[in-house]
Amino acid sequence: MTRETREFLAAVRSGEIGAGVWGCGHIGASALFHLAVAGVRCAGYDLSSERVGAVEQGRFLSTEVMHPAPRAATPDTTTAPLHIRASTNWRDMSEQNIGLHLICVPTDHGHDPSSAALEDVLPRICRVIRESTPSRWPRLVIIESTIVPAWIDEIVLPEVARQGLEVGRDVHVGAAPRRDWFSGEDHSLRTLPRVVGGTAPEATTLLAAFYSLICNTVKPARDARHAALTKVVENALRYHGISFANALAIGLPQYDMAQVLELAATKWNIPYYHPSLGIGGHCIPLAPQYPIAEAGAGETVELVQQAVDFNAGYFERLYATALRRLLEGCRRVAVLGLAYTPDARMEKLSPAYSVLRTLGHDGRTVHLHDPYYTPEEIRALAGVETLRFPDDLAGYDAVVLVTAHTPYVQDEIERHVAPHAVIVDNFGTWRDRDFPPGVRYHEIGAG
Ligand SMILES: NC(=O)c1ccc[n+]([C@@H]2O[C@H](COP(=O)([O-])OP(=O)(O)OC[C@H]3O[C@@H](n4cnc5c(N)ncnc54)[C@H](O)[C@@H]3O)[C@@H](O)[C@H]2O)c1
Repeated sequence: MTRETREFLAAVRSGEIGAGVWGCGHIGASALFHLAVAGVRCAGYDLSSERVGAVEQGRFLSTEVMHPAPRAATPDTTTAPLHIRASTNWRDMSEQNIGLHLICVPTDHGHDPSSAALEDVLPRICRVIRESTPSRWPRLVIIESTIVPAWIDEIVLPEVARQGLEVGRDVHVGAAPRRDWFSGEDHSLRTLPRVVGGTAPEATTLLAAFYSLICNTVKPARDARHAALTKVVENALRYHGISFANALAIGLPQYDMAQVLELAATKWNIPYYHPSLGIGGHCIPLAPQYPIAEAGAGETVELVQQAVDFNAGYFERLYATALRRLLEGCRRVAVLGLAYTPDARMEKLSPAYSVLRTLGHDGRTVHLHDPYYTPEEIRALAGVETLRFPDDLAGYDAVVLVTAHTPYVQDEIERHVAPHAVIVDNFGTWRDRDFPPGVRYHEIGAG
Protein backbone atom coordinates (compact mmCIF):
# COMPACT_ATOMS: atom_id res chain seq x y z
CA MET A 1 0.00 0.00 0.00
CA THR A 2 1.44 3.40 -0.95
CA ARG A 3 1.89 6.18 1.57
CA GLU A 4 -0.90 8.12 -0.10
CA THR A 5 -3.33 5.24 0.23
CA ARG A 6 -2.33 4.74 3.86
CA GLU A 7 -2.97 8.40 4.57
CA PHE A 8 -6.32 8.23 2.80
CA LEU A 9 -7.33 5.28 4.95
CA ALA A 10 -6.14 7.06 8.07
CA ALA A 11 -8.32 10.06 7.11
CA VAL A 12 -11.34 7.76 6.79
CA ARG A 13 -10.57 5.95 10.04
CA SER A 14 -10.08 9.14 12.01
CA GLY A 15 -13.41 10.52 10.84
CA GLU A 16 -11.80 13.36 8.90
CA ILE A 17 -13.53 12.00 5.80
CA GLY A 18 -17.05 10.64 6.24
CA ALA A 19 -19.11 8.32 4.04
CA GLY A 20 -22.51 9.42 2.76
CA VAL A 21 -25.03 6.80 1.71
CA TRP A 22 -27.65 7.82 -0.86
CA GLY A 23 -30.67 5.54 -0.50
CA CYS A 24 -31.08 3.74 2.84
CA GLY A 25 -32.99 0.62 1.81
CA HIS A 26 -31.66 -2.93 2.16
CA ILE A 27 -28.36 -2.14 0.52
CA GLY A 28 -27.83 1.38 1.83
CA ALA A 29 -28.86 0.63 5.41
CA SER A 30 -26.66 -2.44 5.59
CA ALA A 31 -23.75 -0.42 4.14
CA LEU A 32 -24.31 2.16 6.88
CA PHE A 33 -24.45 -0.58 9.47
CA HIS A 34 -21.18 -2.23 8.44
CA LEU A 35 -19.38 1.08 7.98
CA ALA A 36 -20.49 2.32 11.38
CA VAL A 37 -19.47 -0.95 13.03
CA ALA A 38 -16.03 -0.50 11.39
CA GLY A 39 -15.80 2.96 12.94
CA VAL A 40 -16.39 4.98 9.78
CA ARG A 41 -18.27 8.23 10.34
CA CYS A 42 -21.30 7.99 8.11
CA ALA A 43 -24.52 9.71 7.16
CA GLY A 44 -27.56 8.59 5.22
CA TYR A 45 -30.05 10.25 2.92
CA ASP A 46 -33.34 8.79 1.77
CA LEU A 47 -36.58 10.13 0.34
CA SER A 48 -38.51 8.07 2.86
CA SER A 49 -38.87 9.49 6.38
CA GLU A 50 -39.69 5.98 7.59
CA ARG A 51 -36.34 4.69 6.37
CA VAL A 52 -34.50 7.68 7.81
CA GLY A 53 -36.25 7.24 11.17
CA ALA A 54 -35.32 3.56 11.31
CA VAL A 55 -31.65 4.24 10.61
CA GLU A 56 -31.55 6.95 13.25
CA GLN A 57 -33.02 4.50 15.75
CA GLY A 58 -30.31 1.98 14.91
CA ARG A 59 -32.52 -0.31 12.84
CA PHE A 60 -31.03 -1.48 9.58
CA LEU A 61 -33.76 -3.39 7.76
CA SER A 62 -32.03 -6.50 6.45
CA THR A 63 -29.91 -6.94 9.55
CA GLU A 64 -32.96 -6.90 11.80
CA VAL A 65 -35.12 -9.52 10.14
CA MET A 66 -32.74 -12.44 10.17
CA HIS A 67 -33.87 -15.45 12.00
CA PRO A 68 -31.91 -16.36 13.95
CA ALA A 69 -29.68 -13.30 13.84
CA PRO A 70 -26.02 -14.23 13.49
CA ARG A 71 -24.28 -12.81 16.53
CA ALA A 72 -21.20 -11.46 14.82
CA ALA A 73 -23.12 -9.70 12.06
CA THR A 74 -25.81 -7.99 14.07
CA PRO A 75 -25.10 -5.65 16.93
CA ASP A 76 -27.27 -5.57 19.97
CA THR A 77 -29.13 -2.61 18.56
CA THR A 78 -31.60 -2.47 21.40
CA THR A 79 -28.94 -1.93 24.03
CA ALA A 80 -26.24 -0.27 21.96
CA PRO A 81 -27.74 1.57 19.02
CA LEU A 82 -25.33 2.78 16.38
CA HIS A 83 -25.65 6.52 16.04
CA ILE A 84 -25.84 7.45 12.40
CA ARG A 85 -27.11 10.75 11.13
CA ALA A 86 -29.75 10.27 8.50
CA SER A 87 -31.98 12.78 6.79
CA THR A 88 -34.60 13.29 4.13
CA ASN A 89 -32.82 16.52 3.26
CA TRP A 90 -29.83 15.80 1.04
CA ARG A 91 -28.38 19.25 1.76
CA ASP A 92 -27.50 17.99 5.24
CA MET A 93 -24.67 16.03 3.61
CA SER A 94 -22.92 19.29 2.69
CA GLU A 95 -22.00 20.13 6.26
CA GLN A 96 -20.48 16.78 7.13
CA ASN A 97 -17.28 16.64 5.08
CA ILE A 98 -18.37 13.58 3.17
CA GLY A 99 -15.50 12.21 1.09
CA LEU A 100 -17.16 9.03 -0.12
CA HIS A 101 -20.61 9.02 -1.66
CA LEU A 102 -22.16 5.57 -1.90
CA ILE A 103 -25.08 5.34 -4.31
CA CYS A 104 -27.55 2.69 -3.12
CA VAL A 105 -30.78 3.83 -4.77
CA PRO A 106 -33.06 1.48 -6.74
CA THR A 107 -32.09 0.92 -10.35
CA ASP A 108 -35.14 -0.89 -11.58
CA HIS A 109 -38.76 -0.28 -12.27
CA GLY A 110 -40.88 -3.42 -12.39
CA HIS A 111 -38.89 -5.90 -14.48
CA ASP A 112 -36.71 -3.29 -16.19
CA PRO A 113 -33.54 -1.40 -15.32
CA SER A 114 -34.21 2.27 -14.60
CA SER A 115 -31.64 5.01 -14.08
CA ALA A 116 -34.23 7.52 -12.76
CA ALA A 117 -33.12 7.49 -9.09
CA LEU A 118 -29.45 7.48 -10.10
CA GLU A 119 -30.09 10.55 -12.27
CA ASP A 120 -31.96 12.12 -9.38
CA VAL A 121 -29.16 11.81 -6.83
CA LEU A 122 -26.17 12.49 -9.11
CA PRO A 123 -26.56 16.28 -9.43
CA ARG A 124 -27.19 16.47 -5.69
CA ILE A 125 -24.04 14.52 -4.92
CA CYS A 126 -22.07 16.82 -7.25
CA ARG A 127 -23.53 19.85 -5.52
CA VAL A 128 -22.59 18.48 -2.09
CA ILE A 129 -19.06 17.86 -3.40
CA ARG A 130 -18.82 21.40 -4.78
CA GLU A 131 -20.06 22.88 -1.51
CA SER A 132 -17.91 20.76 0.81
CA THR A 133 -14.76 22.02 2.48
CA PRO A 134 -11.82 21.56 0.09
CA SER A 135 -9.83 18.43 0.82
CA ARG A 136 -6.53 17.00 -0.38
CA TRP A 137 -8.45 13.88 -1.38
CA PRO A 138 -10.57 13.69 -4.51
CA ARG A 139 -14.14 12.81 -3.55
CA LEU A 140 -15.25 9.29 -4.44
CA VAL A 141 -18.62 8.57 -6.01
CA ILE A 142 -19.19 4.84 -5.68
CA ILE A 143 -22.11 3.01 -7.22
CA GLU A 144 -23.18 0.05 -5.09
CA SER A 145 -26.49 -0.33 -6.92
CA THR A 146 -26.73 -2.79 -9.78
CA ILE A 147 -26.42 -0.85 -13.03
CA VAL A 148 -26.20 -1.25 -16.77
CA PRO A 149 -22.40 -0.74 -17.02
CA ALA A 150 -22.80 1.62 -19.98
CA TRP A 151 -24.58 4.07 -17.64
CA ILE A 152 -21.15 5.01 -16.24
CA ASP A 153 -20.10 6.52 -19.58
CA GLU A 154 -23.54 7.55 -20.76
CA ILE A 155 -25.04 9.01 -17.56
CA VAL A 156 -22.62 9.31 -14.65
CA LEU A 157 -19.51 10.84 -16.23
CA PRO A 158 -21.42 13.34 -18.43
CA GLU A 159 -23.45 14.48 -15.40
CA VAL A 160 -20.33 14.91 -13.27
CA ALA A 161 -18.79 17.04 -16.06
CA ARG A 162 -22.03 19.02 -16.51
CA GLN A 163 -21.89 19.82 -12.80
CA GLY A 164 -18.45 21.39 -13.23
CA LEU A 165 -16.39 18.63 -11.63
CA GLU A 166 -13.37 17.07 -13.24
CA VAL A 167 -12.98 13.31 -12.96
CA GLY A 168 -9.52 12.43 -11.68
CA ARG A 169 -8.99 15.86 -10.09
CA ASP A 170 -12.14 16.72 -8.11
CA VAL A 171 -13.78 13.37 -8.08
CA HIS A 172 -13.24 9.69 -8.78
CA VAL A 173 -16.07 7.47 -9.96
CA GLY A 174 -16.26 3.78 -9.20
CA ALA A 175 -18.49 0.75 -8.94
CA ALA A 176 -18.56 -1.66 -6.01
CA PRO A 177 -21.65 -3.78 -6.64
CA ARG A 178 -23.27 -5.60 -3.75
CA ARG A 179 -23.12 -9.38 -4.09
CA ASP A 180 -23.38 -10.45 -0.46
CA TRP A 181 -26.26 -12.09 1.27
CA PHE A 182 -27.85 -10.66 4.38
CA SER A 183 -28.34 -13.73 6.51
CA GLY A 184 -25.68 -16.12 7.70
CA GLU A 185 -21.96 -15.60 7.98
CA ASP A 186 -20.74 -17.36 4.84
CA HIS A 187 -21.78 -14.81 2.24
CA SER A 188 -21.99 -11.66 4.30
CA LEU A 189 -20.74 -8.25 3.29
CA ARG A 190 -17.59 -8.94 5.29
CA THR A 191 -16.87 -12.46 4.09
CA LEU A 192 -17.84 -12.32 0.42
CA PRO A 193 -15.08 -10.98 -1.86
CA ARG A 194 -15.90 -7.41 -2.91
CA VAL A 195 -15.33 -6.48 -6.56
CA VAL A 196 -14.38 -2.82 -7.04
CA GLY A 197 -13.33 -0.76 -10.02
CA GLY A 198 -12.72 2.92 -10.64
CA THR A 199 -12.55 5.05 -13.74
CA ALA A 200 -8.75 5.24 -13.30
CA PRO A 201 -6.22 2.93 -11.59
CA GLU A 202 -5.72 5.38 -8.70
CA ALA A 203 -9.48 5.39 -8.13
CA THR A 204 -9.51 1.59 -8.00
CA THR A 205 -6.68 1.68 -5.45
CA LEU A 206 -8.59 4.08 -3.18
CA LEU A 207 -11.78 2.07 -3.53
CA ALA A 208 -9.95 -1.15 -2.67
CA ALA A 209 -8.44 0.49 0.40
CA PHE A 210 -11.79 1.84 1.54
CA TYR A 211 -13.65 -1.45 1.14
CA SER A 212 -10.87 -3.34 2.94
CA LEU A 213 -12.27 -1.68 6.06
CA ILE A 214 -15.48 -3.68 5.82
CA CYS A 215 -14.67 -6.61 3.51
CA ASN A 216 -12.08 -9.30 4.21
CA THR A 217 -11.22 -9.70 0.53
CA VAL A 218 -11.32 -7.03 -2.14
CA LYS A 219 -10.95 -7.93 -5.82
CA PRO A 220 -9.97 -5.02 -8.06
CA ALA A 221 -11.55 -5.09 -11.53
CA ARG A 222 -10.02 -3.60 -14.68
CA ASP A 223 -12.18 -0.50 -14.28
CA ALA A 224 -15.59 0.66 -13.07
CA ARG A 225 -17.47 -0.83 -16.03
CA HIS A 226 -15.87 -4.22 -15.53
CA ALA A 227 -16.77 -4.15 -11.84
CA ALA A 228 -20.38 -3.27 -12.68
CA LEU A 229 -20.53 -5.93 -15.40
CA THR A 230 -19.34 -8.60 -12.96
CA LYS A 231 -22.57 -8.23 -10.98
CA VAL A 232 -24.66 -8.23 -14.15
CA VAL A 233 -22.98 -11.37 -15.48
CA GLU A 234 -23.13 -13.34 -12.24
CA ASN A 235 -26.84 -12.58 -11.92
CA ALA A 236 -27.40 -13.59 -15.54
CA LEU A 237 -25.49 -16.85 -15.02
CA ARG A 238 -27.66 -17.67 -12.06
CA TYR A 239 -30.81 -16.77 -13.97
CA HIS A 240 -29.74 -19.15 -16.73
CA GLY A 241 -28.92 -21.97 -14.33
CA ILE A 242 -32.28 -21.71 -12.58
CA SER A 243 -34.17 -21.37 -15.86
CA PHE A 244 -32.39 -24.43 -17.28
CA ALA A 245 -33.26 -26.50 -14.20
CA ASN A 246 -36.91 -25.43 -14.48
CA ALA A 247 -36.98 -26.12 -18.21
CA LEU A 248 -35.55 -29.62 -17.64
CA ALA A 249 -38.17 -30.35 -14.97
CA ILE A 250 -41.00 -29.26 -17.26
CA GLY A 251 -39.55 -31.00 -20.33
CA LEU A 252 -38.77 -34.34 -18.61
CA PRO A 253 -41.55 -34.69 -16.02
CA GLN A 254 -41.10 -38.47 -15.83
CA TYR A 255 -37.76 -37.92 -14.04
CA ASP A 256 -36.87 -36.81 -10.54
CA MET A 257 -34.99 -33.86 -11.95
CA ALA A 258 -34.30 -32.46 -8.47
CA GLN A 259 -32.30 -35.58 -7.73
CA VAL A 260 -30.59 -35.70 -11.14
CA LEU A 261 -29.43 -32.11 -10.75
CA GLU A 262 -28.25 -32.80 -7.21
CA LEU A 263 -26.24 -35.77 -8.44
CA ALA A 264 -24.84 -33.79 -11.38
CA ALA A 265 -23.70 -31.13 -8.94
CA THR A 266 -21.46 -33.63 -7.17
CA LYS A 267 -19.13 -32.98 -10.13
CA TRP A 268 -16.71 -30.25 -9.09
CA ASN A 269 -17.55 -27.75 -11.83
CA ILE A 270 -21.36 -27.98 -11.85
CA PRO A 271 -23.47 -25.75 -9.56
CA TYR A 272 -26.70 -27.08 -8.11
CA TYR A 273 -30.05 -25.62 -9.08
CA HIS A 274 -33.25 -27.13 -7.72
CA PRO A 275 -36.31 -26.76 -9.98
CA SER A 276 -38.75 -24.37 -8.35
CA LEU A 277 -41.99 -22.42 -8.44
CA GLY A 278 -40.17 -19.58 -10.19
CA ILE A 279 -37.53 -16.91 -9.91
CA GLY A 280 -38.02 -14.13 -7.36
CA GLY A 281 -36.19 -11.31 -5.70
CA HIS A 282 -34.54 -7.98 -6.20
CA CYS A 283 -31.82 -9.13 -8.53
CA ILE A 284 -32.25 -12.37 -10.40
CA PRO A 285 -35.64 -11.83 -12.12
CA LEU A 286 -34.24 -8.63 -13.60
CA ALA A 287 -30.84 -10.11 -14.38
CA PRO A 288 -31.26 -10.63 -18.13
CA GLN A 289 -32.45 -7.08 -18.72
CA TYR A 290 -29.04 -5.65 -17.80
CA PRO A 291 -26.96 -7.54 -20.41
CA ILE A 292 -29.72 -6.91 -22.94
CA ALA A 293 -29.58 -3.16 -22.20
CA GLU A 294 -25.76 -3.22 -22.20
CA ALA A 295 -25.67 -4.95 -25.60
CA GLY A 296 -27.77 -2.13 -27.04
CA ALA A 297 -30.53 -1.96 -29.58
CA GLY A 298 -28.46 -3.20 -32.53
CA GLU A 299 -27.23 -6.34 -30.84
CA THR A 300 -29.00 -9.48 -29.82
CA VAL A 301 -28.25 -11.56 -26.80
CA GLU A 302 -30.12 -14.53 -28.14
CA LEU A 303 -29.72 -17.02 -25.32
CA VAL A 304 -30.58 -14.43 -22.70
CA GLN A 305 -33.73 -13.46 -24.59
CA GLN A 306 -34.79 -17.10 -24.89
CA ALA A 307 -34.54 -17.51 -21.13
CA VAL A 308 -36.62 -14.36 -20.62
CA ASP A 309 -39.32 -15.72 -22.93
CA PHE A 310 -39.29 -19.07 -21.12
CA ASN A 311 -39.75 -17.39 -17.74
CA ALA A 312 -42.53 -15.05 -18.87
CA GLY A 313 -45.23 -17.68 -18.45
CA TYR A 314 -43.32 -20.19 -16.37
CA PHE A 315 -45.61 -20.73 -13.40
CA GLU A 316 -48.74 -20.97 -15.57
CA ARG A 317 -46.94 -23.67 -17.58
CA LEU A 318 -45.84 -25.51 -14.45
CA TYR A 319 -49.40 -25.36 -13.20
CA ALA A 320 -50.84 -26.63 -16.47
CA THR A 321 -48.35 -29.49 -16.82
CA ALA A 322 -47.75 -30.63 -13.24
CA LEU A 323 -49.92 -28.95 -10.62
CA ARG A 324 -53.45 -28.64 -11.99
CA ARG A 325 -54.19 -32.35 -11.88
CA LEU A 326 -52.56 -32.71 -8.49
CA LEU A 327 -54.68 -29.90 -7.02
CA GLU A 328 -57.92 -31.06 -8.62
CA GLY A 329 -60.67 -31.00 -6.01
CA CYS A 330 -58.67 -28.82 -3.60
CA ARG A 331 -61.05 -25.99 -2.74
CA ARG A 332 -59.03 -24.39 0.05
CA VAL A 333 -55.32 -23.79 -0.36
CA ALA A 334 -52.86 -22.47 2.23
CA VAL A 335 -49.77 -20.82 0.77
CA LEU A 336 -46.82 -20.56 3.16
CA GLY A 337 -44.33 -17.80 2.48
CA LEU A 338 -44.65 -14.46 0.73
CA ALA A 339 -40.95 -13.62 0.83
CA TYR A 340 -38.96 -15.05 -2.04
CA THR A 341 -36.18 -16.21 0.25
CA PRO A 342 -36.11 -17.78 3.73
CA ASP A 343 -36.04 -15.66 6.87
CA ALA A 344 -36.09 -12.30 5.18
CA ARG A 345 -38.80 -9.74 4.70
CA MET A 346 -38.30 -9.49 0.98
CA GLU A 347 -41.27 -10.09 -1.23
CA LYS A 348 -40.14 -8.37 -4.40
CA LEU A 349 -41.25 -10.33 -7.50
CA SER A 350 -41.73 -13.37 -5.28
CA PRO A 351 -43.08 -16.51 -6.99
CA ALA A 352 -45.74 -16.44 -4.24
CA TYR A 353 -47.56 -13.84 -6.33
CA SER A 354 -47.83 -16.14 -9.37
CA VAL A 355 -48.89 -19.00 -7.09
CA LEU A 356 -51.67 -16.90 -5.51
CA ARG A 357 -52.83 -15.51 -8.84
CA THR A 358 -52.96 -18.83 -10.66
CA LEU A 359 -54.32 -20.98 -7.82
CA GLY A 360 -56.91 -18.34 -7.04
CA HIS A 361 -58.65 -19.14 -10.35
CA ASP A 362 -61.11 -22.02 -10.63
CA GLY A 363 -63.09 -20.78 -7.61
CA ARG A 364 -60.53 -21.80 -4.99
CA THR A 365 -60.07 -20.03 -1.69
CA VAL A 366 -56.39 -19.25 -1.28
CA HIS A 367 -54.93 -17.88 1.96
CA LEU A 368 -51.37 -16.84 2.66
CA HIS A 369 -49.20 -16.98 5.76
CA ASP A 370 -45.74 -15.53 6.31
CA PRO A 371 -44.28 -15.10 9.81
CA TYR A 372 -42.49 -11.92 8.78
CA TYR A 373 -45.64 -10.05 7.68
CA THR A 374 -48.73 -8.97 9.60
CA PRO A 375 -52.20 -9.90 8.31
CA GLU A 376 -52.65 -6.25 7.25
CA GLU A 377 -49.39 -6.30 5.30
CA ILE A 378 -50.36 -9.57 3.62
CA ARG A 379 -53.72 -8.11 2.65
CA ALA A 380 -52.10 -4.93 1.29
CA LEU A 381 -49.30 -6.70 -0.59
CA ALA A 382 -51.04 -9.82 -1.86
CA GLY A 383 -54.75 -9.00 -1.63
CA VAL A 384 -55.61 -12.20 0.29
CA GLU A 385 -56.50 -13.19 3.83
CA THR A 386 -54.07 -14.93 6.11
CA LEU A 387 -54.30 -17.99 8.39
CA ARG A 388 -52.91 -19.00 11.75
CA PHE A 389 -49.89 -21.22 11.42
CA PRO A 390 -49.85 -24.11 12.17
CA ASP A 391 -53.25 -24.32 13.92
CA ASP A 392 -55.43 -23.57 10.87
CA LEU A 393 -53.64 -25.89 8.44
CA ALA A 394 -56.02 -28.78 9.07
CA GLY A 395 -58.76 -26.73 7.41
CA TYR A 396 -57.04 -26.70 4.00
CA ASP A 397 -57.09 -29.27 1.18
CA ALA A 398 -53.66 -28.22 -0.02
CA VAL A 399 -50.57 -26.57 1.43
CA VAL A 400 -48.05 -24.89 -0.87
CA LEU A 401 -44.70 -24.23 0.79
CA VAL A 402 -43.12 -21.36 -1.15
CA THR A 403 -40.49 -20.20 1.34
CA ALA A 404 -38.56 -22.36 3.80
CA HIS A 405 -38.75 -19.89 6.70
CA THR A 406 -37.33 -21.36 9.91
CA PRO A 407 -40.75 -21.75 11.63
CA TYR A 408 -41.92 -23.89 8.68
CA VAL A 409 -38.76 -25.97 8.75
CA GLN A 410 -38.95 -26.50 12.52
CA ASP A 411 -42.65 -27.24 12.73
CA GLU A 412 -43.91 -30.81 12.89
CA ILE A 413 -46.02 -30.10 9.87
CA GLU A 414 -47.07 -33.73 9.46
CA ARG A 415 -49.12 -33.36 12.66
CA HIS A 416 -51.03 -30.33 11.44
CA VAL A 417 -52.07 -30.96 7.84
CA ALA A 418 -55.41 -32.51 6.92
CA PRO A 419 -55.30 -36.33 6.50
CA HIS A 420 -55.91 -36.09 2.72
CA ALA A 421 -54.05 -32.88 2.01
CA VAL A 422 -51.94 -32.24 -1.07
CA ILE A 423 -48.53 -30.76 -0.25
CA VAL A 424 -46.59 -28.82 -2.86
CA ASP A 425 -43.06 -28.19 -1.66
CA ASN A 426 -40.92 -25.68 -3.58
CA PHE A 427 -37.48 -27.00 -2.63
CA GLY A 428 -38.13 -30.33 -0.95
CA THR A 429 -37.92 -28.91 2.58
CA TRP A 430 -40.38 -31.53 3.93
CA ARG A 431 -39.27 -34.38 1.68
CA ASP A 432 -38.27 -36.62 4.61
CA ARG A 433 -41.33 -36.03 6.77
CA ASP A 434 -43.53 -38.91 7.75
CA PHE A 435 -46.87 -37.66 6.41
CA PRO A 436 -50.12 -39.60 7.08
CA PRO A 437 -50.77 -42.18 4.32
CA GLY A 438 -53.59 -40.14 2.75
CA VAL A 439 -51.39 -37.10 2.15
CA ARG A 440 -50.03 -36.61 -1.37
CA TYR A 441 -46.61 -34.95 -1.23
CA HIS A 442 -45.12 -33.29 -4.30
CA GLU A 443 -41.67 -31.75 -4.46
CA ILE A 444 -41.27 -29.40 -7.43
CA GLY A 445 -39.15 -31.03 -10.11
CA ALA A 446 -39.07 -34.41 -8.41
CA GLY A 447 -41.26 -36.16 -10.98
N1 LIG B 1 -31.68 -6.16 -1.95
C1 LIG B 1 -30.77 -6.95 -2.49
O1 LIG B 1 -30.71 -8.13 -2.19
C2 LIG B 1 -29.75 -6.38 -3.47
C3 LIG B 1 -28.60 -7.11 -3.69
C4 LIG B 1 -27.64 -6.61 -4.55
C5 LIG B 1 -27.86 -5.42 -5.20
N2 LIG B 1 -29.02 -4.73 -5.00
C6 LIG B 1 -29.19 -3.46 -5.72
O2 LIG B 1 -29.03 -2.39 -4.78
C7 LIG B 1 -29.84 -1.29 -5.18
C8 LIG B 1 -30.75 -0.90 -4.04
O3 LIG B 1 -31.54 -2.01 -3.72
P1 LIG B 1 -32.29 -2.16 -2.32
O4 LIG B 1 -32.63 -3.58 -2.20
O5 LIG B 1 -31.51 -1.50 -1.25
O6 LIG B 1 -33.60 -1.31 -2.60
P2 LIG B 1 -34.63 -0.77 -1.50
O7 LIG B 1 -35.89 -0.52 -2.23
O8 LIG B 1 -34.60 -1.64 -0.30
O9 LIG B 1 -34.00 0.62 -1.06
C9 LIG B 1 -33.86 1.72 -1.91
C10 LIG B 1 -33.99 2.97 -1.05
O10 LIG B 1 -33.72 4.08 -1.89
C11 LIG B 1 -34.65 5.10 -1.57
N3 LIG B 1 -34.77 5.96 -2.74
C12 LIG B 1 -35.46 5.73 -3.87
N4 LIG B 1 -35.28 6.73 -4.74
C13 LIG B 1 -34.48 7.63 -4.13
C14 LIG B 1 -33.95 8.87 -4.51
N5 LIG B 1 -34.20 9.39 -5.71
N6 LIG B 1 -33.18 9.53 -3.61
C15 LIG B 1 -32.92 9.00 -2.38
N7 LIG B 1 -33.39 7.82 -1.98
C16 LIG B 1 -34.16 7.13 -2.84
C17 LIG B 1 -35.93 4.37 -1.21
O11 LIG B 1 -36.76 5.18 -0.39
C18 LIG B 1 -35.39 3.15 -0.47
O12 LIG B 1 -35.29 3.35 0.92
C19 LIG B 1 -30.55 -1.74 -6.45
O13 LIG B 1 -29.77 -1.38 -7.55
C20 LIG B 1 -30.55 -3.25 -6.32
O14 LIG B 1 -30.64 -3.89 -7.57
C21 LIG B 1 -29.96 -5.18 -4.13
